[in-house]
Amino acid sequence: MTEERLQCRIDPICEPFGLIIFGASGDLTRKKLLPALYNLYRHGLLPDNFFILGAARTAFDERGFRELINSFLPGEEGEERECFLSHLYYRIIDYDGLESFKTLKRKLISLEGIYKTGKRRIFYLAVPPLLCEGIAKLIGESGLTRGTDWNKIVVEKPFGWDADSARSLNRTLHRYFQEEDIFRIDHYLGKETVQDILLFRFANSIFEPIWNRNHIDHVQITVAESIGVGERAGYYDRAGIIRDMFQNHIVQLLSLVAMEPPPTFRPLRIREEKVKVFRSLRPIEKKDIPEYTVFGQYVSGEIEGVAVPAYRSEKGVRRNSNTPTFATMKLFIDNWRWQGVPFYLRSGKRLRRRVTEVSVHFKTVPHSIFKGIVSEEIKPNVLVFRLQPDESINLTFQTKIPGTKLCFRDVTMNFSYRDYTVPIPEAYERVLLDCLRGDQMIFVGQEGVEIAWEFFTPILDFLEKGKKIVFHIHNYRAGSWGPWEADEFIRKDGRQWWVT
Ligand code: BG6
Repeated sequence: MTEERLQCRIDPICEPFGLIIFGASGDLTRKKLLPALYNLYRHGLLPDNFFILGAARTAFDERGFRELINSFLPGEEGEERECFLSHLYYRIIDYDGLESFKTLKRKLISLEGIYKTGKRRIFYLAVPPLLCEGIAKLIGESGLTRGTDWNKIVVEKPFGWDADSARSLNRTLHRYFQEEDIFRIDHYLGKETVQDILLFRFANSIFEPIWNRNHIDHVQITVAESIGVGERAGYYDRAGIIRDMFQNHIVQLLSLVAMEPPPTFRPLRIREEKVKVFRSLRPIEKKDIPEYTVFGQYVSGEIEGVAVPAYRSEKGVRRNSNTPTFATMKLFIDNWRWQGVPFYLRSGKRLRRRVTEVSVHFKTVPHSIFKGIVSEEIKPNVLVFRLQPDESINLTFQTKIPGTKLCFRDVTMNFSYRDYTVPIPEAYERVLLDCLRGDQMIFVGQEGVEIAWEFFTPILDFLEKGKKIVFHIHNYRAGSWGPWEADEFIRKDGRQWWVT
């Protein structure tokens, strides 16, 4: 593809900055944030003047911290890597201690002097959700946000723990930060293919006229993972699949598929349209939860020939845990476009393979002229956004098999992202760069996050406070597609799960 044919948005510049990461010794920082920052650095996307100050409870000195991070960085050892590592600093912090935050401030001021970053501070909360509000308070009370050029704060998902805690966290953040400086991260929104859903819908004219209840039978969103809970069992066992995947990643995907066209491609306009989708979600009444949902937890099994333990036997999981590691749900959007169209959502850990797909299932032909001539039923068209792995968009349709007999076969028209020669950036590279540039396009707004929690909180209450909850969590074998009840759930509606 030639340069002239590309139509690109002009990127905003990235000013010098100091990034303070709370939770710097954790999994997220090691495996995602610093490798992503290093890639941005290697590609010349960071300014010359920047530093990264890690803070966490674990005892490290600066050397130890750099060594730890070094072992997680991609690529070869060398000067470039050494140079990046030299921008990294570390301080032990007590997340409840005001004095500790004041000490951090002194370190910050001294680094700002050395790196000449001005007072441009980004606070990244890579910590468990229950610590976020306390840290935000102490950032404010210790004066870390005062007398600066600008401050930004980045909060990882899940943002809050339920509707009340999300509202309370928003109130605290707003005491010290403007809404446009709060970056609520949902890394799914940084995935190329997720961003492409909006482009596909609104930069092509042929799909939008049929993107509604007159032509679409139902929509499926599957986020299947083959991995288990790994080293995050402590968090996961309290959070469960609804907080971990549904309240954020999955409803964000749903909002991109379901929203009305915004008047312009601007962050606020897109947020407004997402909020309208969230407001239109039909609440699931407590009595209807068993009818509209299926929950599961994996028992031992095999994935790609390797035996894996049951969830309850994973390190850090309570032996009698009833935390769901799988869920499926049927949602309806009460508006003109989507009235009566079910959205089936499904996600789980330790499923057969890793695949994330959104499939839009069109209605069958209103009348078959082939009835009595061919025995097969005419299969409806399906449009699939394959978000990962092997990113692609494909459309299935019917064709005639060549020959003298009249036989049908469904074929697939496929666009693969592999056709582009440019590499697909990691989602965290994109979200971090946008945050450094102050671009809110792919971040989640206050209202959206609160309304999404309002939808899911009654379901969480049912799961966590319900007395007979154990009857609603079905076992599934690791390496399967989830509990048998999940198949039955969609089959009783005359449909079946779809993954390519
Ligand atoms: C995270 C969840 O947000 O997303 C994890 O906390 C999950 O449990 C991960 O494994 C999936 O992300 P990805 O990008 O690998 O699909």
